[in-house]
Amino acid sequence: MEYDISDSTKPLYNSIIEQLEKTLSRPINVLDLGSSYGINSSLMKYNLTMSELNDFFLNGTEPTRIETKQFYEECNCNDNMNFYQIDISDEALKFSEEMNLCERGMNVDLEAEKLNLLGSLPKIDLVIATGCVGYIGYKSFLNLLKAIKNRQSNYIKSEKEYIAPIFAFSVLRIFDMEDIEEVFKMYDYSVVKSEIKPIRQRSFSGPKEKGQTISLLHGMGISTKEYEDEGNFFADFYVAKSKN
Ligand SMILES: C[S@@+](CC[C@H](N)C(=O)[O-])C[C@H]1O[C@@H](n2cnc3c(N)ncnc32)[C@H](O)[C@@H]1O
Repeated sequence: MEYDISDSTKPLYNSIIEQLEKTLSRPINVLDLGSSYGINSSLMKYNLTMSELNDFFLNGTEPTRIETKQFYEECNCNDNMNFYQIDISDEALKFSEEMNLCERGMNVDLEAEKLNLLGSLPKIDLVIATGCVGYIGYKSFLNLLKAIKNRQSNYIKSEKEYIAPIFAFSVLRIFDMEDIEEVFKMYDYSVVKSEIKPIRQRSFSGPKEKGQTISLLHGMGISTKEYEDEGNFFADFYVAKSKN
């Protein structure tokens, strides 16, 4: 269904990473939520495009592990960013680790309570999520922000400076952001919807999905002219930053 939103979120994430690099002067640690097989890392760390990935992976015969490893080894790898990935698909994470797309993959259900997921990670500077909200919702952000707050307290106890991570993520226009925004506010984050135009995510599977989506959006008072009316899902882009 021509999923290619990750091409559009890539420069948005990269510009945040560039700003962070200027202040931190070290490689930036990125936590990718719902990372799947490592699409964001392929695009950002290996500077590939969705069309290059499609040409390699979907050219008729499935490439072998060795061919895939060679494919990534021949790309320029940007060592100024380190990826840590979370997904419920173990197979996807294993692939990503094997192909050196991430430092570590964590097989975690982000919606589940009692997450202790940041304990073993280095300090995270940027949390990203592309095409993922909907699968995950306010509970996931609550779980993460709780874990971040715990970490922050531990750093303060040991008198180390702690800068809370920035969150940046796409959200399909059909999803109400109210609960997620509420959670960020509870943890003293300000959430801003980017002023850029809505971003295309993928095409509709057929007339039924299109009709349901458009009527949902109209019910929310959102005009679908020039966007969903043309046959594609669209997402907005959000950035959340700690006020402290
Ligand atoms: C549409 S894919 C997003 C792919 C990728 N982020 C990209 O670059 O566009 C959604 C991903 O979220 C993962 N996912 C769904 N529910 C989840 C949960 N509760 N916790 C963690 N990951 C989840 C799925 O396994 C899938 O890989």
